Amino acid sequence: MTSQASAPSKVILFGEHFVVHGVKAILASINKRVKISSKKIEEKSVIVKSNIGSIKIPLHESVKNIRTPFRPFFFIVKHSLNEFGFNHGVEVLIESGVPVGVGLGSSSSCCVAAAASISGLFTKFSRDKILELAINAEKTIFPNSSGADCTVCTFGGLIEYDKKNGFKKIESQPNFFLVIANSGKTHSTTKTVAKVMKFKEGNDSVFADLCKKESQLVEEAIFSLKQNDLQAMGKSMNENQKYLEQIGVSNKKLDSMINLAQKTAYGAKLTGAGDGGCIIALTDETNLDKTMKNFEGMYECFSTKIDYAGLDTF
Ligand code: MEV
Repeated sequence: MTSQASAPSKVILFGEHFVVHGVKAILASINKRVKISSKKIEEKSVIVKSNIGSIKIPLHESVKNIRTPFRPFFFIVKHSLNEFGFNHGVEVLIESGVPVGVGLGSSSSCCVAAAASISGLFTKFSRDKILELAINAEKTIFPNSSGADCTVCTFGGLIEYDKKNGFKKIESQPNFFLVIANSGKTHSTTKTVAKVMKFKEGNDSVFADLCKKESQLVEEAIFSLKQNDLQAMGKSMNENQKYLEQIGVSNKKLDSMINLAQKTAYGAKLTGAGDGGCIIALTDETNLDKTMKNFEGMYECFSTKIDYAGLDTF
């Protein structure tokens, strides 16, 4: 029996990094997906196969000794075997259309799809249970995760999220395109989150003030999203970018990409951890092509719409 699941990737529209410190963020899942297929095998190992490499780990290993990005998969298999009292191996095949390490949530969508696919070999978990397993798996490589990325990859669409209250769907379907341009530089989310912690420690009141401003901005952005007011939303994105620059997660390359985007888009900002990765630019039919052209020949660039389906199992 093969158990399959697919999960979308994501962008953070507002609030990355600040969300780790309790501020509300707005996220959207996008139509680039990860598909995971799992099957039980006789051999007492976890085998993970993907286009970035393959690995075989004996089941008797402990999770904390696994020093590869595949640790969350091993965690999910061990957890599931334990919970359901099985003692055989599992083979996991990852097929991903999501670029890795550039802020589009490839690790979160992998954790969500893997949690659904692997647990699906034994039972049919609710989306809430799958999310809990996915967040715990992601925490094996990224202990300070806010949980926001896994949440939007599970439920799809547009959400507001904060660590204390969890998520709430934003029940509107605004009509926009996001242009995503990739700086080509990968980043480590763990390192950028640690960098922001350090900034906070050295600049307590500045950081508190920025959190306050970000919270206000997020409320304004939710209002603009509900009105489909792209001018206002774009302005808020530009403002959010300034806060991200102040906490030190942008860089010269991202700044110049954002300048390029702002020539024609309603607004632009980095998305995800920063320090590399991708920028997003807000457009509609009237400025989509022009905005894509700004990046032609310089950066990998594509346009995307919100994915409202979220996690899918089959
Ligand atoms: C990473 O996509 C988003 C961060 O806010 C970290 C997190 O929320 O866990 C930087």
